[in-house]
Amino acid sequence: MRTVWRNLSLLTCDEGRRVFRDGAVVSEDDTITWVGAAQDLPAGISAERTIELAGRWLTPGLIDCHTHIVFAGQRATEFARRTAGTSYADIARAGGGILNTVRATRAADVDELVRRSEPRLRALLQEGVTTVEIKSGYGLDFESERRMLVAARALEQRLPVTVVTSLLAAHATPPEFRGREDAYIDLIAQEWLPLFAQERSPPPPTGESSRAVERALVDMVDAYCESIAFSATQCDRLFAAARTHGWPVRLHAEQISNIGGSRMAARHGALACDHLEYATEDDAIELARAGTVAVLLPVAYYVLADPRLPPIDMFRRHRVPMAVASDANPGSAPGASLQTAMNMARRLFGMTSEEVLDGVTRNAARALGLGDRLGQIAPGFQADFAAWSIDTPDELGYWIGFNPCSMVVRGGEIVLERDA
Ligand code: NIG
Ligand code: FE
Repeated sequence: MRTVWRNLSLLTCDEGRRVFRDGAVVSEDDTITWVGAAQDLPAGISAERTIELAGRWLTPGLIDCHTHIVFAGQRATEFARRTAGTSYADIARAGGGILNTVRATRAADVDELVRRSEPRLRALLQEGVTTVEIKSGYGLDFESERRMLVAARALEQRLPVTVVTSLLAAHATPPEFRGREDAYIDLIAQEWLPLFAQERSPPPPTGESSRAVERALVDMVDAYCESIAFSATQCDRLFAAARTHGWPVRLHAEQISNIGGSRMAARHGALACDHLEYATEDDAIELARAGTVAVLLPVAYYVLADPRLPPIDMFRRHRVPMAVASDANPGSAPGASLQTAMNMARRLFGMTSEEVLDGVTRNAARALGLGDRLGQIAPGFQADFAAWSIDTPDELGYWIGFNPCSMVVRGGEIVLERDA
């Protein structure tokens, strides 16, 4: 069906960051076919449907390119300990932190994981998010990691959001491998990856990839490279194995120390490196050279009261593409709000509203390897939009705890309308 979207102000989020105060968009089924000023709409275009947006601002559907929303349990007691002065790293070393959530998640079946995670995904959708990356990493045994990924895919059948999955089995050392990190990495690399490579999941109900009959359960491979997790050498071994199966890789790197993770990831052509508070100028140069996206996670920075800001100016200087994500998880970023992350990226990291908007659209798509289909309002891109009841684009990443998103469109269909 050909649809004309009009009476709107348009933020294309393409490379030129084009803005049309009186803009229009044409979509054909799930794909955008024309974008421009309303006065330039091709004469005689025969629309089967015209949707008037009453002067609202239209952006690409937002993309939350780093989340851990599938999990069971919560860590409120740890939050209380952290606010009283105990560090995240000390809690992790004592068997809490990620391993705390692993205990709860291992005890949950797929249905329970879906039931607990669906409200978190719905909260993101209501904020205009049409694509979300979801990681495993709270299972740390083959079956539990698999259950998390199956739950992530099941969410996509329940809500109109595109789900991109990352296998994060190398998130922490499971208790049964304590002190045998190398053996655990070898198990993932040599035994689990070949098994996951065989795993298929159903196609999403809508969107481009729905034309495929089935697809992989795992879209990419992630790891936590940190003094309290895995070394750069261990992650390097895992990435080499992942790439032999054709998976793109990404890395949690330089969050609380610098142990060379981002340079190693850049050598593997990683799609993204995430956190990066401790990244150096050499790291920035390597990320830029590899075209790796720096994914900034201001909610984790805030919740962990990090002493160190990520080097935003250095990323700017070296033209490292920057994305912003919620990092939603039960430890370092409790909640599920990309808009909160956008506000914090501006207030805490000093990013401009344009940088933040690029970071949740075009650059976030790139961090997921989907930069040629998602994250821009441009011909050939998927017709995923968010409509905003705002006066100026500077209101994106401005409001906290108030959501100005009033319509979400996915694959050319209106999937959510709300008062804002
Ligand atoms: O991105 N850094 C590692 N992973 C998560 C935290 C996970 C957790 O604390 O449960 C992060 O911040
Ligand atoms: Fe994370």
